[in-house]
Amino acid sequence: MVVLVLGSGAREHALVRSLTLDPSVDRVVALPGNPGIADLAGCLPGDPADPTAVVDAARSEGADLVVVGPEAPLVAGVADALQESGIPCFGPSAQAAALEGSKAFAKEVMAAAGVPTAAAHVCTTVDEVERALDATGSPYVVKEDGLAAGKGVVVTTDRARAREHATACLERADAVVVEDFLDGPEVSLFCLSDGRTVVALEPAQDFKRVGAGDTGPNTGGMGAYSPLTWAPTDLVPQVLDTVARPTVAEMARRGTPFVGVLYVGLALTADGPRVVEFNARFGDPETQVVLARLRTPLGVVLRSAAEGELSGLPELEWSPRTSVNVVVAAEHYPGTPATGDTIGGIEHAEQVEDVHVLHAGTRRETSTGDQPGGLVSSGGRVLSVVSLADDLPGARSRAYEAAGRITLRGSHTRPDIGLAAERGEVVVPGQEA
Ligand code: GLY
Repeated sequence: MVVLVLGSGAREHALVRSLTLDPSVDRVVALPGNPGIADLAGCLPGDPADPTAVVDAARSEGADLVVVGPEAPLVAGVADALQESGIPCFGPSAQAAALEGSKAFAKEVMAAAGVPTAAAHVCTTVDEVERALDATGSPYVVKEDGLAAGKGVVVTTDRARAREHATACLERADAVVVEDFLDGPEVSLFCLSDGRTVVALEPAQDFKRVGAGDTGPNTGGMGAYSPLTWAPTDLVPQVLDTVARPTVAEMARRGTPFVGVLYVGLALTADGPRVVEFNARFGDPETQVVLARLRTPLGVVLRSAAEGELSGLPELEWSPRTSVNVVVAAEHYPGTPATGDTIGGIEHAEQVEDVHVLHAGTRRETSTGDQPGGLVSSGGRVLSVVSLADDLPGARSRAYEAAGRITLRGSHTRPDIGLAAERGEVVVPGQEA
């Protein structure tokens, strides 16, 4: 089969890498891809959020399957255009992707499906925001209603900061969501859906704040690890039964079936797992560690979902090993990241046993003569350094050893990816020893 992957980040690099390892996949093409993806697959220029351009590219490449990485093409209707053209697509329609595109819509669907989540106030005025902040109390959780690349959520004990974020959100959209704070460790669970059947991948944990100990502003994600040895053993079946299947059934009942990956962001509270957020695509940086552990060929899995055949898929096979992803971020990220800086050391990093490096914010400078252009930074999250080892200490050690071999002026990593779990300090409220 020929697979077209849309997107240009490390998540898409991970998808392409796994797809090229699937014997049933003859060829992978990316639109637009990145320099790391270009080492594995053909890369096409173009806008992945332009439905006509994507359909044209899929047709000219003879794609049997299109896999959508980021949310913007979904919300722009790329999956709808592919479906109308008879091209199988792993990724939901624009209406189904509103589970990510609108926090207010997601809350409405969760209420209809009886999904456990934080109580929420959808506010359209600053007065309503004030009343909602009174009702929830501190810590305040304020969420932008539309897409915000993982940076639309502010969690703060500072009421003025909460009000300021809500006001800014209302300047960009009609509504802002104020929610109760959910106390407990966070988990990301990717649930594949063909519109009816749901199959969960293994859980992962990501690290959204820029600084060690969950300090500093939110980012798109500074690292991740999987598996979560501290999580309750019945977590996945419980979330399938109480969250993913009811949500997929509710979307089908509304005539907008969800096909693709329902990213369930959870907090494991004293009252059980509660949904923090839904996304309509794979998470970044969690995908990098989840796919590093998936042994079942990925193309077969994603095609089964796209073609409504997940019920016939054999149980997924997983490596019992641990994977850690350490993101190498550019100077000043998550503010205005420095770009155009030379990146070195990737080959040296990949000499660390069972480590691979995935590209995100990278660009090749124009080549001169026979020489390929040098690699420079072009975004905030520049590389994902992904390790595998027999346990978490080993995987952390390999990932940090390799990340330390990357040279990029002013770059930074978060030093505590998986550290609390390694120390046995991740505790689910109510399950303290
Ligand atoms: N890891 C956060 C996200 O993908 O939105």
